[in-house]
Amino acid sequence: MKRQVNIIGQSPLVIQLKQLALQVAETDMPVLIVGETGSGKEVLARFIHAHSRRAANSFIPVNCGAIPAGILESELFGHEKGAFTGAVQSRKGYFESADKGSIFLDEIGEMPLETQVKFLRVLESGEFQRVGSSETVYSDARIIAATNRNMYQAVAEKNFREDLFYRLRSVELQIPPLRERGRDILLLAENFVHEFRQKHKIAFEGFSPEATEILMRYPWPGNVRELRNLIESLLVLEKGKLISPEILEKHLVQRNRYKSLVHDPAKSEKHELHVIYSSILQLRQEVGEIRQMLQHLIHNPYQPQYQPQLLLPGSPEIFIPVAGEQEHPSPEAHPEKRVEGQIEQEGLQSLDEMEKKVIAQALESCGGSRRKAARALGITERTLYRKIKSYGLKDPGPAGNG
Ligand SMILES: Nc1ncnc2c1ncn2[C@@H]1O[C@H](COP(=O)(O)OP(=O)(O)OP(=O)(O)O)[C@@H](O)[C@H]1O
Ligand SMILES: [Mg+2]
Repeated sequence: MKRQVNIIGQSPLVIQLKQLALQVAETDMPVLIVGETGSGKEVLARFIHAHSRRAANSFIPVNCGAIPAGILESELFGHEKGAFTGAVQSRKGYFESADKGSIFLDEIGEMPLETQVKFLRVLESGEFQRVGSSETVYSDARIIAATNRNMYQAVAEKNFREDLFYRLRSVELQIPPLRERGRDILLLAENFVHEFRQKHKIAFEGFSPEATEILMRYPWPGNVRELRNLIESLLVLEKGKLISPEILEKHLVQRNRYKSLVHDPAKSEKHELHVIYSSILQLRQEVGEIRQMLQHLIHNPYQPQYQPQLLLPGSPEIFIPVAGEQEHPSPEAHPEKRVEGQIEQEGLQSLDEMEKKVIAQALESCGGSRRKAARALGITERTLYRKIKSYGLKDPGPAGNG
């Protein structure tokens, strides 16, 4: 089967991502890819491998979330004959198979803690032992990991080792969600139309201008995968006829039980408000999490692994406690309840105010660094920059010196 190794996209965020990926491809550094479901994490991992000096050797994808915890260790590291019931012969694991190539560890956040210990050693020295053996094996596999989980939370909840996390993310590549890629949505749609027109031998009349507008406005919770699947079912089920807003809506609703997207200004305004409310709730929760992380750092000052390992220009930084950072009370048990109450009391006109406050707070918690605050808020730096301008907040510049 032909595998996607080309990243389709011309939006500034995607161009920047590709440039960074090409830079890291030349090195052997471990890479952590972060992005929502369906946003193209595996495509990016294959792109890195294909542009590395390892391209002629294997690329081995492993989904850590799909392999039962008890089996994952022997799958990754291999096992000796008789190591456990059913181990009738010795077998090499994925790390050995990926020697001189790359191993793609998807859903790394799901890796069990015991396996993480062994994995950290591989990451640091390339060494490990097969299950049931005391002989040390070496693998020169380039490690690319991916996650769509909030790893800070996994670390705070002690489900993921923080030393491993910080080692793993010496280079972190963030894939923007499709809804932030502007006209890339149409570019991707065009590519998928081309692909499925050929595959199913269908003549396609195209999208009406109104339907095209919906494609641009729709939030794409399932990202590129959702767009791809949608295009295939539109072509096949609608037999290539012109896609009107009504047809498009019908398919989107069937997929997501998504509320009306067409011709109902009241409904769509309500939807937009709902989206804004949810993002404020989410922002608040994330700021709470960041505070927790900062507090943890303040109370555990000897954490050498917290030193940023900035090896590439423009690669994301990690949080470092800021001197004189004010201590905050621990986050309330249910911050979202409080915010909901606030919304009811303060009414709609206060929405902007609330968002402005959350942003100001995030900038403050992140020592005035726009880049860190954007990461903490889960939005792109560009979006944050726009919001800072529109709320008349002081723009601290990317690293906070401006
Ligand atoms: N930039 C892109 N250009 C072309 N196709 C893409 C792009 N990004 C994603 N795709 C396609 O979208 C689908 C999902 O991509 P991929 O499997 O890489 O996403 P993912 O982030 O790994 O998803 P998951 O979180 O479910 O593991 C695939 O069919 C892939 O080929
Ligand atoms: Mg994937």
